[in-house]
Amino acid sequence: MCGIVCYVGKEEAKPVLLGGLKHLEYRGYDSAGLAVQHEDDVDYCRSVGRIVDLERKTDSMVIKGTCGIAHTRWATHGEPSEENAHPHRDQDENVYVIHNGIIENHDFLKKKLGKAGIVFRSQTDTEVLAHLIASHFDGDLNEAVRKTMSQIEGTFGLAVIHRHVPGQIVVARRGSPLVIGVGEDGYFAASDVSAMVRYTKKVVHLNDNELAILSRDGYSISTAQAQSVERATETVEWEPEDAELAGFPHFMLKEIFEQPETLRNAMRGRLEIGEGVPKLGGIVPVWERLKECRHLVVVACGTSYYAGCAGMYIFEKLTEVDVQVELASEFRYRKLNFPPDTFIIALSQSGETADTLAAIKEAKRKGAGLLGIVNVVGSSIARATEAGIYNHAGPEIGVASTKIFVSQLAILTLLALLIGRHQNLSLTDGVGAIKGLLALPDQVQKILSQDNHIRAIAEKYYRCNNWLFLGRKYGYPIAMEGALKLKEVSYIHAEGYAAGEMKHGPIALICPEMPTVAIIPQDAMYEKMASNIQEIKSRKGPVIAIATEGDHQIKELADDVIEIPATLDYLNPILSVIPCQLLAYHCARLLNRDVDKPRNLAKSVTVE
Ligand code: AGP
Ligand code: GLU
Repeated sequence: MCGIVCYVGKEEAKPVLLGGLKHLEYRGYDSAGLAVQHEDDVDYCRSVGRIVDLERKTDSMVIKGTCGIAHTRWATHGEPSEENAHPHRDQDENVYVIHNGIIENHDFLKKKLGKAGIVFRSQTDTEVLAHLIASHFDGDLNEAVRKTMSQIEGTFGLAVIHRHVPGQIVVARRGSPLVIGVGEDGYFAASDVSAMVRYTKKVVHLNDNELAILSRDGYSISTAQAQSVERATETVEWEPEDAELAGFPHFMLKEIFEQPETLRNAMRGRLEIGEGVPKLGGIVPVWERLKECRHLVVVACGTSYYAGCAGMYIFEKLTEVDVQVELASEFRYRKLNFPPDTFIIALSQSGETADTLAAIKEAKRKGAGLLGIVNVVGSSIARATEAGIYNHAGPEIGVASTKIFVSQLAILTLLALLIGRHQNLSLTDGVGAIKGLLALPDQVQKILSQDNHIRAIAEKYYRCNNWLFLGRKYGYPIAMEGALKLKEVSYIHAEGYAAGEMKHGPIALICPEMPTVAIIPQDAMYEKMASNIQEIKSRKGPVIAIATEGDHQIKELADDVIEIPATLDYLNPILSVIPCQLLAYHCARLLNRDVDKPRNLAKSVTVE
């Protein structure tokens, strides 16, 4: 979902900007551009396609200067084209602006500007910003941006330079992320820290309706109401190489194989075995209210939503709390009567998903407590909630979420355990849960060691155009997540279904050309899942079973079996999702898909 990179300092801007854009590629885009200022001039280049296409185009140009802005576009208004790529300029080509988000009143503004004689070059909403900033410019670029902000409805993360304001970049945000980087030899701004972490780990997050001036001497932040803002820098907790491939062919595979460490990071410093109680420092500010809470609402999108669905069963097992899970994009249409002690849990890897942010604002309006479980430190959702728990999983670069899903399940289990141990959960059950959690990293490693076996299964079925994933209770969210993974990266159609629903429709689909992945660990649902498999086999449907190691009966039932170690029933989702991730990855590779940047997808969906 678009990327913004800005730099002003002692170094030539072009390589810093292009390198920064490459670290934002995972966010998804269709075109790119940059503008670099020097003396009283601006060099400028845009191109459709990948960053390398833009880089190749600039190689034959003179792009010099130490102050510049760069952008990757994920088109919302106007097709992907060079003319619609950012930066956009005003009529006199003095203002160069890049933008992430949607200007919702752009039609009205275009008509107003048209009457003033402005001729638009592009079909984008963004171009209105260039003309408005130019119309307000009287020498003070920051004030021109501030005045423009007051006219805009919608969302923006923007950056602007002006031909006649040397060495200065103005950035502003409302609803789309922007973070400032404080470097040794210059200052940065970007959509996320991965664009600048190889230069600096000292960052300052902008809040909505704030703007900042960057120059080679420093930066200053103010509000849309011209109030000065002083904000301490934060230190990014991961290393630049965390955002590199480290010998893997794709980030998705790297992140799948990182999951033993991801689980250790999620639990590090948070488990006290003796008491059978986790320590979650991030929720201390709300703990007195949260421990009395009897109603939780999880809001999330995509894979995070499926993590919430699994979390619902985990909370039911470990606590006396009622949990409902809502698609964040549907949440605002619901007439939800929250009991007074309700807490919302917002689950989000990026912490920038627009639908989830909108759900949080709606929940806040209704007086619910707000918790965030987020991976990106200082992200919008992290700052929009009262308290929360960070995944500490490092950057997840692959667009298809894998390690974060597993991290979210572990953290939801820790939260359920903490609440449960203040309700009816016994010390024995608490200690048992913690021992089960501590065993998970090695158990995940054992599943990962079957990668060749899982790839061989993918080779049998990757040409099938439709797959079905089935599970019951804890396995049902994994069936849905497994189907999403396959769809996302291989473009094969797949459905995740509650296995009990087979007889209510999906069984009509069964045929030899449609494989079914059955999540069938040794738990209370085993016999019913085994019956589902028999129903499928009797109709000649191939079955890939994800089953507990040592289960000999399953080998008689299914065509292919992937074994997972035995664990507590509510911890099975963390193990049974791993084979689904690897099946999706290998099918995508066999089909030569763009595994880390699947078509039409973005890593952080910052538009609704
Ligand atoms: C997951 O594989 C997808 N890329 C997508 O569904 C994602 O989970 C969803 O957009 C939510 O993102 P978030 O966790 O950053 O809020
Ligand atoms: N709405 C703008 C456009 O379509 C910006 C899209 C984005 O966030 O990349 O150009």
